[in-house]
Amino acid sequence: MGTHVDIDPAILYFGTPVVLLSTLNEDGTTNLMPMSSVFWLGRTAVLGIGGSSQTARNVRERPEIVLNLPNVDLVTQVDRLALTTGNAAMSAAKAERGYVHVSDKYAHAGLTAYGSDTVLPTSVTECPVHIEGTVAALHDLGEPKLLAVEVAVTAVRVAPELRLDGHDHRIDPDRWRPLVMSFQQFYGLGERVHPSRLASIDEELYR
Ligand SMILES: Cc1cc2nc3c(=O)[nH]c(=O)nc-3n(C[C@H](O)[C@H](O)[C@H](O)COP(=O)(O)O)c2cc1C
Repeated sequence: MGTHVDIDPAILYFGTPVVLLSTLNEDGTTNLMPMSSVFWLGRTAVLGIGGSSQTARNVRERPEIVLNLPNVDLVTQVDRLALTTGNAAMSAAKAERGYVHVSDKYAHAGLTAYGSDTVLPTSVTECPVHIEGTVAALHDLGEPKLLAVEVAVTAVRVAPELRLDGHDHRIDPDRWRPLVMSFQQFYGLGERVHPSRLASIDEELYR
């Protein structure tokens, strides 16, 4: 008898940080999309986004982006953006699921805009981390239309209290409290669970 059972889950979202993605609409306003299919390798971010989203349209036409990282305290504002789209021509699938069209996502969520340094879309003031970047490549991921967006990071701005004491350019992971999505639910991180052997490598060597 095995120790595991075969299952066929509809989604495989085993826990990733929530990001509010800023992209530029055709009229010059900024759209905000909550998302969590994201990973980083060096100075590149890779994002998984649905092809019918307003965000997908925006990045295809105006390849500038901000990854705003909310902490756990912003969960209410993030949740207000769930089931909204900036795309006025909403897909039938989204309409069936109860999505509504929202053109001003900042006002809808109760968030405020902050001028970005290297890109046109605005950043979210309340998010303690802003990662600005340009779209370096788009990869179609097949049906239903999904898009992998490769982002070359151009600037990183953080709330000063997140920095590791004595280091201008390092984050203290004990102070950074990301909002995490696991399947369709929100979580925070617990405390550090074990000393890390990887952390014996000087972080500057990754530069
Ligand atoms: C917490 C959270 C995480 C989400 N993660 C993703 C994701 O990783 N990729 C994606 O395509 N949609 C994700 N969604 C759904 C999008 O937010 C949704 O498709 C939205 O309508 C896109 O906005 P837009 O059409 O204005 O770009 C997520 C929604 C929430 C609330």
